[in-house]
Amino acid sequence: MLSFFQVAVVAACVIGAAAETLTGIPTFDFNITSTNKLYLSSLTHVLVDSRFQRSVDLAGETLIPPTLLQFGQTFAADLKVLGFTDIPVQVADRAQPGSIFLTLSTDRAFLDAAGRNTSEGYTLTVGTKDVVIAGASPLGAFWGTRTLLQQAKLGGNALLIGSGSDSPGWATRGVMLDGGRHFYPPEFIIEICSYLSFFKQNTFHLHLSDNLFNNVDIYTRQRSLELYAAFRLNSDDPAVSGLVKPYRFNESYTRETFDNMQASCAARGVTIIPEIEAPGHALVISQWKPELGLADLSLLNISHPETIPTMESIWKTFLPWFKSKTVHIGADEYDSSLANDYNLFVNTMSSFIRDNSGKDIRIWGTNEPSRSSSVSPNITIQHWEFFEDNPLALIKQGYRVLNADDAFYIVGKWSGSYPQQLNLTRIFTGDPAGGAYAPNIFDTHNATNNPARSDPGVIGHIAAQWNDYGPNATTVTEAYYAWRDALPALADKQWGGRLTQQQYSLIFDELHGVIPGQNLDRAIPSKTEVILEYKFSGHTQAETVVDSSGNGYDGACKACSIADGILTLSTGISLLKTPLTSKGRNYTLAFGINPSSRAPVGATIFSGPDSTLVLGNGTAPQVALISANQFYALNFTLPRDVWSDVQLLGRGNATFLRVGKGPEMQFLTVMGINGQSFQFQPIAIEAPLAQIGGGGFIGSFRSIKLLNTV
Ligand SMILES: *[C@@H]1O[C@H](CO)[C@@H](O)[C@H](O)[C@H]1NC(C)=O
Ligand SMILES: *[C@@H]1O[C@H](CO)[C@@H](O)[C@H](O)[C@H]1NC(C)=O
Ligand SMILES: *[C@@H]1O[C@H](CO)[C@@H](O)[C@H](O)[C@H]1NC(C)=O
Ligand SMILES: *[C@@H]1O[C@H](CO)[C@@H](O)[C@H](O)[C@H]1NC(C)=O
Ligand SMILES: *[C@@H]1O[C@H](CO)[C@@H](O)[C@H](O)[C@H]1NC(C)=O
Ligand SMILES: *[C@@H]1O[C@H](CO)[C@@H](O)[C@H](O)[C@H]1NC(C)=O
Ligand SMILES: *[C@@H]1O[C@H](CO)[C@@H](O)[C@H](O)[C@H]1NC(C)=O
Ligand SMILES: *[C@@H]1O[C@H](CO)[C@@H](O)[C@H](O)[C@H]1NC(C)=O
Ligand SMILES: *[C@@H]1O[C@H](CO)[C@@H](O)[C@H](O)[C@H]1NC(C)=O
Ligand SMILES: *[C@@H]1O[C@H](CO)[C@@H](O)[C@H](O)[C@H]1NC(C)=O
Ligand SMILES: *[C@@H]1O[C@H](CO)[C@@H](O)[C@H](O)[C@H]1NC(C)=O
Ligand SMILES: *[C@@H]1O[C@H](CO)[C@@H](O)[C@H](O)[C@H]1NC(C)=O
Repeated sequence: MLSFFQVAVVAACVIGAAAETLTGIPTFDFNITSTNKLYLSSLTHVLVDSRFQRSVDLAGETLIPPTLLQFGQTFAADLKVLGFTDIPVQVADRAQPGSIFLTLSTDRAFLDAAGRNTSEGYTLTVGTKDVVIAGASPLGAFWGTRTLLQQAKLGGNALLIGSGSDSPGWATRGVMLDGGRHFYPPEFIIEICSYLSFFKQNTFHLHLSDNLFNNVDIYTRQRSLELYAAFRLNSDDPAVSGLVKPYRFNESYTRETFDNMQASCAARGVTIIPEIEAPGHALVISQWKPELGLADLSLLNISHPETIPTMESIWKTFLPWFKSKTVHIGADEYDSSLANDYNLFVNTMSSFIRDNSGKDIRIWGTNEPSRSSSVSPNITIQHWEFFEDNPLALIKQGYRVLNADDAFYIVGKWSGSYPQQLNLTRIFTGDPAGGAYAPNIFDTHNATNNPARSDPGVIGHIAAQWNDYGPNATTVTEAYYAWRDALPALADKQWGGRLTQQQYSLIFDELHGVIPGQNLDRAIPSKTEVILEYKFSGHTQAETVVDSSGNGYDGACKACSIADGILTLSTGISLLKTPLTSKGRNYTLAFGINPSSRAPVGATIFSGPDSTLVLGNGTAPQVALISANQFYALNFTLPRDVWSDVQLLGRGNATFLRVGKGPEMQFLTVMGINGQSFQFQPIAIEAPLAQIGGGGFIGSFRSIKLLNTV
């Protein structure tokens, strides 16, 4: 804790203002006024302007905007990533020496790329003794605190003296995640919001219902009715009773959970935009009410008298849950021979949602070739493909268009059409007229199809990640890894920054290491490459198992015994708890194991929140890793009543098991491709570390060692 005020700047020598674009993600324009620096160690408290402490940003998409004071508290806690703890937050009417003063700017405008006022701008002024961040709104001030954290990190905990002002070019910046075909736990969604927020992205579009491709050429009606399809919001309102299948209650969000997700994301300036998809990709609705489906059950029959009322009752149930001013109704990939039905559906839902909640809607751009009707111009079109719409023509017709062009589509693990990671080159070179990508670039090949950067019809950019091949193609965190290395670069472009690819590669790792509010890498602090080592030396019934790595990750034994280097778990409830949870890429978990023939086939070896290593799946004895309830089994069975030296290896995007001096055996996922073929692909599973044994395991361990290398 910093307890005293250090005079860090001896003499502030004023030089001529030198405007510079500071590297950061996004970049930040700053006028340097001194050759000295302000050391962060001289800052002792966060002050929030008493005049504005309760102010909120009413201009953004969220209906639950934090106050300036709340953002100040989040910021003060975030300073921990730079090594500061217990920085007090106080309310005051002016800056003081040693303070970071958060206030609102009332005397100037902050403009977006179209020259309009934006509430997300801010100024950051670094003096010789204090820092002042003045936002166009509390959200703007919060973005300013992100700049401070980044600049302090890159500057070795020192800030250049001077001032800068900054504002985003576009109002909507972020991602879409397909949560329909893969469940994502609320904690994961919240951590992704933290990731987005550090790079000033403000939108998490969450796709909440979908199904695997309904391959009507080969599926029977019965198979379609059983195909994976999910709806992730679980209400006990009788109007939607049965929409979420009971066996998927644990893979859906209750109102309380969803409230917490929205509030946690909003606390960092990120708005969740929920999407409930219809009349296409709607198999989950016709599995619930089969009479509403067309011959292809994934498409709803809009002319059935119950279809629109059913969708209205779903929206009526869930509109009160949503804390955003805009919701997404999907509406892509419908039958183009039913264009008038489609337009009727979209316009009816738009009016219904507006009348019931005052909310605006978005749809995926869909070229329904009707000659007699069109969708209402106050619906935002989320463009994704030129064969579905012409975004420039839509803008000329008066629509507002959100750019989600499939130049940045990614699909989990494998796809015949799209890549598995964001294309970094395209981010830095995607403008066909030359230069980097930007939200106004709909077409990365033909500049004629792109509006001017200043066109007010472009509201922003969203990068979409899909799960075409369902829940067993990827783990939960693989969705993060698909974005990890390149999404921040795209965030710079969505904001309107000027980072080059070379600058990005120089600062990414450093900034990545200090992103508050998440540990998506599942990193574990460690003094050396040995994170944990249990040698089980001595002879004791004691509860504590000493970690000899030097990190102090001692374990706690329950109903187990330790003698001469061996840990024995003699009952199915014996276990060893560690203070750790999971270890992400890369790791080696090495252990000697002697499973008793009395241990059941499905007994747990190691378990943690992201994964479990089991002796078998309950009926088959092959060693398996479980992640998000999916089993990934090896063709290998651990021998009973003898010792084996085992290594579980997490190497990049793949996971292996090695026994003794045998070959590395790889855990694979077997993806089903539209009912037609299979794809065997690597799967990256975290090391499970929270508990050893416990789930029925009987037998012994020796020398458990976790390394952060492989
Ligand atoms: C933009 O902001 C400036 C300064 O705060 C204000 O004077 C002006 O009225 C604003 N314009 C609009 C259209 O809100
Ligand atoms: C830097 O100073 C110049 C001259 O006063 C000013 O026009 C410009 O807006 C300033 N830039 C920033 C980022 O504050
Ligand atoms: C959800 O419940 C099903 C059975 O009802 C079970 O197989 C699955 O493991 C559970 N999933 C989670 C996330 O707990
Ligand atoms: C759609 O519903 C209408 C009205 O119930 C019905 O006449 C029509 O046959 C249905 N279409 C299909 C393809 O099932
Ligand atoms: C479009 O917006 C206007 C108000 O701006 C509203 O009166 C109208 O109902 C809206 N139309 C639809 C289809 O939502
Ligand atoms: C896994 O990593 C390998 C090697 O780094 C890479 O070639 C491959 O594209 C990655 N696969 C996925 C699905 O990310
Ligand atoms: C990445 O994008 C660049 C520029 O658009 C393109 O030339 C390249 O083929 C893309 N790479 C991959 C792997 O798709
Ligand atoms: C570029 O787009 C314009 C407008 O859509 C079109 O007329 C032209 O043929 C396209 N050029 C190429 C090389 O595809
Ligand atoms: C266990 O694996 C076997 C062989 O793959 C499979 O037949 C069985 O259904 C699995 N059992 C469970 C409970 O997953
Ligand atoms: C599993 O391994 C056994 C030998 O250990 C081999 O005979 C069998 O073919 C393997 N099965 C598969 C599906 O690879
Ligand atoms: C993990 O190892 C792979 C190569 O096996 C490497 O490409 C990757 O950068 C490593 N990841 C981390 C976080 O060290
Ligand atoms: C994964 O799910 C697909 C269906 O999408 C199925 O065909 C495949 O067998 C599953 N793989 C495993 C390993 O269960």
